[in-house]
Amino acid sequence: MRDSAPPPATVITGAAAGLGAVIAAELTRRGQRLILVDRDREALAAAAAAAALPGGAAPPHVIVADLSSLAGAQAAAEDALRQAPLDGLVNNAGGQAPGEQYPAAAPDAWHASVTLNLLTPMLLTQLLWEELARASGAVVNIGSSGGLGDAPYASPEYGAAKAGLHRFTTSLGDRRDVRVTGVIPGWIGLARARAERAAMSPAEREATGPLVEPEAIAREVADLLERGHAGELRRML
Ligand SMILES: NC(=O)c1ccc[n+]([C@@H]2O[C@H](COP(=O)([O-])OP(=O)(O)OC[C@H]3O[C@@H](n4cnc5c(N)ncnc54)[C@H](O)[C@@H]3O)[C@@H](O)[C@H]2O)c1
Repeated sequence: MRDSAPPPATVITGAAAGLGAVIAAELTRRGQRLILVDRDREALAAAAAAAALPGGAAPPHVIVADLSSLAGAQAAAEDALRQAPLDGLVNNAGGQAPGEQYPAAAPDAWHASVTLNLLTPMLLTQLLWEELARASGAVVNIGSSGGLGDAPYASPEYGAAKAGLHRFTTSLGDRRDVRVTGVIPGWIGLARARAERAAMSPAEREATGPLVEPEAIAREVADLLERGHAGELRRML
């Protein structure tokens, strides 16, 4: 019997937990082959088992990599390319580093945060571009309300990196070979946020506004991968 080529796969970074795992579950429901990237080896194995396609299809390929360094991002891209064909990339890994924020944070710490939230998505997009273009594929960048507006923000490195990620996305709006798109979520209704909100006074809760359901974001991501326009950024606040 002749080996048939596997269907194209979508790469999701930060897929072991949080929003990334919810996106993996949504794409699995839609029958998409996945490549899951995360630095947490154990959680990644559990997420891959949960995202195995029904019907005995191969479980997702997993890549353990720390994406807060460009070397880690490069190694992840090389591994993903070995699993070609690829038709999607979801640049989801990101977040504020714990501890001191700029300018109190050590230069290495805020560099790592800017790398994770901006430079790694740019590098992965570049290194996978040719492969994604072959499949008329798409990139979805997960931005943040922290990168919007002009009010002071507690983590300047995170705010600046996400603002950069939004503009990176729109700057590629004239490219048709790969559709680069994104979502800009407000505070997401993941377990950590629910616990933090539960500990707030009613007035504090009122001031933070409602949480955005992760499943709703995952559906938008799936829709953007399928039919998003180049440069399109969807706000979910
Ligand atoms: N949580 C929110 O309320 C919120 C709001 C707006 C935007 N976002 C954005 O959504 C995305 C997902 O957020 P989340 O809260 O689900 O994240 P999270 O902190 O729950 O982490 C999700 C996964 O990313 C992995 N990860 C973290 N750093 C990594 C690194 N250096 N290399 C590889 N993997 C790494 C973690 O191991 C984890 O499995 C991020 O880009 C974040 O900035 C989150």
